[in-house]
Amino acid sequence: MRIAILASGNGSNFEAIAQAVKEKKIAAEIVLLFSDHRDAYVLKRGEKFAISCESFELKEFPNKKKYETALLELLNQYRVDLVVLAGYMRIIGKELLAAYPKRIINIHPALLPDFPGLHGIKDAYEAGVSETGVTIHYVDSGVDTGPIIAQKKVSIEKNDHLADLETKIHQLEHQLYPEILAKIVNEQ
Ligand code: GRF
Repeated sequence: MRIAILASGNGSNFEAIAQAVKEKKIAAEIVLLFSDHRDAYVLKRGEKFAISCESFELKEFPNKKKYETALLELLNQYRVDLVVLAGYMRIIGKELLAAYPKRIINIHPALLPDFPGLHGIKDAYEAGVSETGVTIHYVDSGVDTGPIIAQKKVSIEKNDHLADLETKIHQLEHQLYPEILAKIVNEQ
């Protein structure tokens, strides 16, 4: 199976997945790493793994539709079977969703449907809940709304600072995303 990873920034989830592929824990090949930010740190991580990296930005196109068409062309060019979002901070457009039905996956740092959006960790922390977690889900046209594939909980202790919670969530993400991708790939 040929995987593309889409990421906008740091790329720690990309790295966890790339490492698992390298160790043959996921029976797939990462054929493409795409970032919508030309200076994203994830691209440096991609080079380290000798994965093909491509990047262009929305602002380089007259509109979002043209940007998405270019992205779809890129995915076609690399003959991508499965699209994995790892900190990709954009809503996926209609054309892309139609081209990859149940073939686009995302990770979110909260227990959806609770705390969707950009600040899942902070929002859960500030709400004072005693547990939160990580969700992996299929992508649809909403923000963090598609069918859920897997969830895992993390408890928030009384003396946890936000930074403690962030660390716990990211550790869980780096374990859960490769594990679930391995299963998805095996089920194809
Ligand atoms: C992760 O917390 C992920 O759940 C969210 O964005 C963050 C990306 O982190 N969608 P990184 O770029 O993988 O380090």
